[in-house]
Amino acid sequence: MAQDIACHLHSYTNPVLHAQLGPKIIERGQGIYVYDQDGRGYLEGVSGLWSAALGFSNQRLVQAALNQMQQLPFYHSFNHRVTPIVAQLAAELIKISPVPMSKAFFTSSGSEANDTAIKMVWYYHNALGYPKKKKIISRFRAYHGVTIATASLTGRVHNHTDFDLPLAGILHTDCPHFYRHAVPHETEQDFAVRCAMNLEQLIIKEGPETIAAMIVEPVMAAGGVVVPPKNYFDLIQPILKKYHILLIADEVVCGFWRTGQMFGCQLYGIQPDIITLAKALTSAYMPMGALLINQQMYQVIANNANKIGTFAHGFTYSGHPVCAAVALECLKIYQENNFIAHLQQITPVFQSRMQQLKNHPLVGEVRGVGLLGGVELVADKISRKPFATNQNVGREALKFMLKTGLILRNYGDTITCCPPLIASTPEIEHMFDLLTQGLDETQKWLQNC
Ligand SMILES: Cc1ncc(COP(=O)(O)O)c(C=O)c1O
Repeated sequence: MAQDIACHLHSYTNPVLHAQLGPKIIERGQGIYVYDQDGRGYLEGVSGLWSAALGFSNQRLVQAALNQMQQLPFYHSFNHRVTPIVAQLAAELIKISPVPMSKAFFTSSGSEANDTAIKMVWYYHNALGYPKKKKIISRFRAYHGVTIATASLTGRVHNHTDFDLPLAGILHTDCPHFYRHAVPHETEQDFAVRCAMNLEQLIIKEGPETIAAMIVEPVMAAGGVVVPPKNYFDLIQPILKKYHILLIADEVVCGFWRTGQMFGCQLYGIQPDIITLAKALTSAYMPMGALLINQQMYQVIANNANKIGTFAHGFTYSGHPVCAAVALECLKIYQENNFIAHLQQITPVFQSRMQQLKNHPLVGEVRGVGLLGGVELVADKISRKPFATNQNVGREALKFMLKTGLILRNYGDTITCCPPLIASTPEIEHMFDLLTQGLDETQKWLQNC
């Protein structure tokens, strides 16, 4: 499409390659499928961007947006104003939060939610008289967004190179991926102990009085679906408590049943001070993110803002009523018995098909929880030797999968899966049939390389 090549700079795309290849044009969606301009359907195995949890044609969400558009398409929440739907959404999020929370704040994206979390953490510590508590700990391979601050949290080199990032004061500690980062003969439990010890050493080296917060995804998604060791969060949370370091749980991908629980925090007993949400909050039908903060944080922030005269933070679209209407309808659906029963039916199918992939000659590790999965491809199963980076095996595998009619994503040589939660059992089976077909094609290609 000439217009696209001429006028549009794409996200996460090589612009030079794009000028040669042109865009894949997606025109419509139905259930868990999207269709290109030639009418070819693709099973969207990663829900767009880990986001369209209810698929691509949910009429209840469309109707909720339409009703709100007709009633009041926009109003804001500055200066004591609010729309009823936004107040309802805040109350609903506080009600379903996995740990007691006091207030919801709205944004338009996951990045803005995490960015706001950092600002709130700084504001909080300043208000309490700890102005040196500024540093934020994230983890290598984490994904928390792309604003200046959140790209700094994101633990991936491409997000930093030539953007002059990460910002000073953003620190990265171990990624808790046992398969890749354990040392020989280390048990998974011992690996978690080592991660926790390294975290504590980092805190001591930097000075605990300078560390404000740590941010974690319960299960790291875009970094290759990293499921932490079972004891990992039990070990790191007391360390954070010991040094008065706040915990931010980034539930942008994990939230709303992705991991088999309503929230990822529930899987591991995570007790955060702040929770950030986006994506499935509206099934990505409208751009919306949110933060939930606990009563302690709220009280300190409120008192400080009272001294200053206002809480001087907020976006034009903080609490957009159309986004809120869609989010509320999503939350209704997520709590319906038949929806939960459906998840209970498809999740074991998803997990058992994931496990079967272990037998494929290219697969070194499969990992995942709920309806989130990662399949790591390796050159040698026994030694776990990875493929050479310049072979781009993960990227090539995605191309073979696309040819079969399946859209997935990769993190290096890990193929990541995150299908819409509405997928039926036959659709889940079909997704894995196509994935396996794509792996077979990748293997043939490798043999001819
Ligand atoms: C865990 C996590 N946090 C935050 C973000 C950033 O969200 P957004 O792209 O809406 O800014 C993402 C995006 O993929 C994510 O996966």
